[in-house]
Order: sequence, then structure tokens, then C-alpha cells
Amino acid sequence: MLIAQITDLHVVGHGQLCHGRVATNAHLQEAVAHLNNLDPRPDVVLATGDLTDHGTAEEYDALHEILSALRPPVYLIPGNHDHRDLFLEAFADHAYLPRPGAPFAHYGIEEYPVRLVGLDTTIPGQSHGMLCDERLGWLDATLSAALHRPTLIFMHHPPFRTGIRWVDAVGLHGGRKMEAIVARHPQVERIACGHIHRPIQVAWGGTVACTAPSTSHAQVALTLTETSGFDFGYALEPRAVQLYLRDPGYGFLSHLSYVSGAYEIYPSSSASRLREGFQRRYEELCRTEFDAASPTRRP
Ligand SMILES: [Fe+2]
Ligand SMILES: [Fe+2]
Repeated sequence: MLIAQITDLHVVGHGQLCHGRVATNAHLQEAVAHLNNLDPRPDVVLATGDLTDHGTAEEYDALHEILSALRPPVYLIPGNHDHRDLFLEAFADHAYLPRPGAPFAHYGIEEYPVRLVGLDTTIPGQSHGMLCDERLGWLDATLSAALHRPTLIFMHHPPFRTGIRWVDAVGLHGGRKMEAIVARHPQVERIACGHIHRPIQVAWGGTVACTAPSTSHAQVALTLTETSGFDFGYALEPRAVQLYLRDPGYGFLSHLSYVSGAYEIYPSSSASRLREGFQRRYEELCRTEFDAASPTRRP
């Protein structure tokens, strides 16, 4: 199964620029085309919050229109820039989502080889996130209902510290309690987060937790030194989608696929001479290191 993650779309109203500078709507359109053209095409796409920049009905209208061009099914959760009720109203046609007025926009998706659990970490009007006892109880019960199915949790605020102090200041409350729950559920093979606008991986709660680059926005500048304090800024680094390829033989592998910047596959001049050698070596490696019957991609 191939899962794609897009995050921090920060869609604005029709004809506008994010921060008066960044064409986030056009960038999301590029990301949608990029996902549609990937070979193999992802089985599903997860959008991990900050779907819009201000959480207005007009922005959700623009988001809905752009995402309608996406060929794989997309599963959405809100981020701190979103408005939960307006989001749920705008996407009432997404049957997996709770109805507008629901206290949280979390849910489980059961129809794939990997179980997908979307967590709502948002607090209306706040930049930081929260996993209150009610949400943690829902997560524990949801995970306990399928102990032996490989599971991916996706959420906006990462439950770990990043080392970038100003984004940690608007991080997640309740992450330690979540870690204890996840540690009791080894079927959780990956946790995919947004909010940071950068790719990060960490061993956490007995699994691997990640954040992904923003698909449509400038990335958060990398400021790891203490002297950088709480200064914040964005850098015009490449935009990307995160891919999670799961093979039953070895679990998840993640890849970044860049949306912005030139991308072309070209053969080297000696490609034809080397091709047979590559194939022979690959088959030899499969016989000795991998399950010999394992294709490179299985459901
Ligand atoms: Fe964001
Ligand atoms: Fe965020």
C-alpha cells in the first residue's frame, strides 16, 4: 500500500496570496497534479491540517475545488489555522467525517490493508494543540479495537519536541499521555504529523513519528541553536509530498517526492550496458536478503 501525505496547504481565497507573497493555491494545484502523475499512484492521500490559512468559508470553498481534481481518495484533518465547524460544513460530502457541531473531527478508516486513524489536536482560536482525556480515551479505545492490524496515525501537531523552539512553543499538550498509549499498541507502525513545515523523523513511543514538509507553503526556517531563541521565519525551500510505502515483509519505508524544482529522469550513457547487470544483482540480493517471492510492492 502506498500512502501519500500532504500538509500545511494554507489555502487562501480565490485570487489571493498567502502572506501577500506565496501562491499557496497554485502550489496545491501543482501538488495535486504531482500526486495524480506519480507512478505508482498513491492508494490514498492524507492531508494533515492547516488546510486553509484563516479557516474561512471562502477558503474552504477554494480548497474543496482544488482537491476535487485529486484522483486518489483524500482524508482530511484540521490544524490550528482551520475552523473545525466551517471545515466540517464545507466537506459534508466526505462521509468519513463527523457532522458539523461534533466536538472533534477524528475518525478511523478501515477499508485498507493499513488502518488509518486521524486525530484532531486542535483547540479553537489557539495555535498550540491538545490531546485532552476525552480524545486520548477515544484513541485508546480505537487502537484497542484492532490490536493486530498495522496502523498509521495522522495528526496535525506532532507529539514530540522538534528542537526549533518557537514551533515547540506552539506544540502539543498531552503528547506524553499519547506516548504511553501508543507504547501499549505495537500495531502502530507510523505517526504522520504536520505543523512544522519540515521533514523530521524520531523514534517515539516504540514506533516512528514524522513530520512532513509543507506542500504549498514556504518551509519553517531551520533554527536549532539556542541563540536563535524564539525568532521565527520561513525559508523558500522546495515543496514536497511525503510517501509511506508499506510492504508486509519489512513495514513502512518513507520517501520525499519534491513538487517544486525541475525533475527529469535521464539515462546515463552507459545505461544499456549496466541494465542487465543491475537486474542480475537485484535478483541475487532478493534471493539472499529478501523474501525471494516478495515483489517490490504488495498490498
Ligand atoms: Fe502550517
Ligand atoms: Fe499548524
